[in-house]
Formats: sequence, C-alpha cells, structure tokens
Amino acid sequence: MVCHFVSDSHEVMTALIVMLPLIVVCVSACFFRAFRRRTSSEMVSLTSLCASFFHTGVVRTAASVEGGSAQPATAPGVALVQGASRGLGLEFVKQLLERSAEGRVIATCRDPAGANSLSLLKEQHGERLTVLPLDVTKESTIEAAAKAVSEQHARLDMLINTAGILHVDHLNVQPETSLGKLDPHAMILTYQINAMGPLLVIKHMAALLKAGGGKGTGASAAIVANLSARVGSIGDNQVGGWYSYRASKSALNQLTKTVSLEFARRKDPVVCILLHPGTVDTDLSKPFQRNVPKGKLFTSEYSVQKLLGIIDGVGFKENGKFFAWDGQEIPW
Ligand SMILES: NC(=O)c1ccc[n+]([C@@H]2O[C@H](COP(=O)([O-])OP(=O)(O)OC[C@H]3O[C@@H](n4cnc5c(N)ncnc54)[C@H](OP(=O)(O)O)[C@@H]3O)[C@@H](O)[C@H]2O)c1
Repeated sequence: MVCHFVSDSHEVMTALIVMLPLIVVCVSACFFRAFRRRTSSEMVSLTSLCASFFHTGVVRTAASVEGGSAQPATAPGVALVQGASRGLGLEFVKQLLERSAEGRVIATCRDPAGANSLSLLKEQHGERLTVLPLDVTKESTIEAAAKAVSEQHARLDMLINTAGILHVDHLNVQPETSLGKLDPHAMILTYQINAMGPLLVIKHMAALLKAGGGKGTGASAAIVANLSARVGSIGDNQVGGWYSYRASKSALNQLTKTVSLEFARRKDPVVCILLHPGTVDTDLSKPFQRNVPKGKLFTSEYSVQKLLGIIDGVGFKENGKFFAWDGQEIPW
C-alpha cells in the first residue's frame, strides 16, 4: 500500500512537472486578459490617486476616487481661462501659474490693455502667460483667440469658462426680484454672456481640446469646466427671483450636458463639467453679501483651490456632471 502510495505520488509529481509550463502559460494569459479589460480611465485613476497624495492642494472628492483623474495636479499643460480680468477667472490664472513651473496659461478678457492684474502676472511669469482679447458676445473675437492658441500651442489641455454677469450697473441690468422687473434686453444679454458665451468658446476650441486630450499632462482627457451657479438648479429652486440669471445658468447646464454627450459619442478625449463656486467675495456678489451667513462667504483663493481640486479628480465618469465647490453633485 505504501509502495502504491509512493508510486501514486511519484506519478502525480511527474504529471505536475510536465504540466507546470502549461499552468504558468494559462495563469499568465488570464492576468493579461484581465489587465487589458481595464479601461484607460481606470488606469489613469491609479496614477492620479498617487499624484493626489503628493499634492496638498488636491481635494479628494468622490469623483477623484471613482472616476479617475484626467489631470494630474502638478503636470504641466496648456490651460485657457476665459473671463480672466478679475474675480474667479483671475484667481484661476494665478493658481494655475503657481502650481507648476512649466505649464502654459492663456488668459482671455475683453480689454487686455485695461486688465492691470493680468499685466502684473505677465511681468512675473513672462512667456508662460499669454493674454488674448475675447468678448463672448462677439464670435469673431472667440475665433481669433482660437487661431492664436492654435498658432502658439496647437493644443489645449484645460478650458475654464468663467465670464458671467448677474448685474451690470451702467447697462441697468439687475437681478429681477419680481415679474414686473423683467426687461427683455437684460434677459437677452444675460443669456448671451452666461449661456451662449461658454458654448461658443467650446465650439471654437473643440479641435484644440481634441488635439490636447490631456496628452500634454499625461492624462486621458482634456477638461472643460464651465462656471455655473447653484441657483441654476431647477430642482433646488426654493425661493424664486433672479429670473434671468437662474434661467441663463439652467441653460448653460443643459448646453454643457449636451456638448459633453457629443464629445462622448464621437469618442473625443474631452470631459465637460459644471462648477458652482459657492458664494464668493467678488464684484458679482458684492451688492448681495449682506444676508450671507457668517463663514459662507468665500475668498476667491479658497473657492478656486477647491474647484481645481475637483477638476484634478475628474475622469470620463464625471462627464456632463454639475458639482459644488465641496465636490457634492447638484441636482438639475
Ligand atoms: N461670485 C459668486 O459668488 C458666484 C457664485 C456662483 C456662480 N458664480 C459664477 O462664477 C463666474 C465668475 O464670477 P465672478 O464672481 O468672478 O464675477 P466677476 O468678478 O463679476 O467677473 C466677471 C468676469 O466676467 C467677464 N465678462 C463679463 N462680460 C463679458 C463678456 N461679454 N465677454 C467676456 N468676459 C466678460 C468680466 O470681464 P470685464 O472685466 O471685462 O467686465 C469679468 O472678468 C460667473 O460665471 C458667475 O456666474 C459666481
């Protein structure tokens, strides 16, 4: 019996030795197939997660963990900030220039000659910053800006649309507190700047975003971030008022969602998101800050730091979504 056992084990050992190379080949094949099945965004999520550990400015949002970053925080690239003369746009330009020593930033505004803060940044950062004229109500200026970016860089890795109006005092545009205050000219101008403007900018920058596709940053997609507002959420509208501003931001949300689907359908490496910056101490909010609860009025430094944290964490899964400054998704 012992002999039988020994002979059996000997046969088993021999069989194992003969089959070992086969087993190794099968196991390797399984690993290879499982590895290949992972999507590119999943792969990027690993690198971005690592990047986020080394970058203190990054906010770990749900988006960053689930979707995978398309933009490692410290990687250089080419970013365009539209509406950069003051407020949040100017702060985006500052922080993007500060975060890496090589990244290029294009800042657009209506009147570069009068944009003193941008001129100061230009003195500090030299050729890393380009300032171009762009008025979102004049499509020819958007087209000209796209041509200039194409000649200079031939690509874009990030586009941040910030220009927006709530009130324009010299044009008598004010947020309406009741139906009787509706003025067709103010309504159209608000829609033109807040909703049409960012979409026309995307229209002319689309080829550059596709060419960039995050390649310059080692990411899987170029990012478009449109500055919306929580009051543009129809589901969240509890108090009414501010007809034009609310409706223009709801329209911006719909337009951004729609273009995000077009990029996805074409398999273009471009991800579009909407961002609510919180209530921020800028010219836009100045006349309405009295009722803001203590601690809820943010500096533009704080808000932009949070928003860039969200942008850093965005991947294909977040395409077409609407996030608040703290990373929470906002209902439509
Ligand atoms: N601040 C807040 O509490 C708050 C809250 C929610 C959402 N947001 C949104 O965040 C974005 C930025 O707001 P902000 O607070 O930074 O406002 P802001 O300080 O008033 O700045 C507005 C910017 O928009 C530009 N702009 C206006 N009309 C333009 C046009 N026709 N073409 C190109 N640029 C134009 C202005 O340029 P000029 O200097 O040439 O006028 C300025 O750079 C807006 O979309 C706003 O709706 C802000």
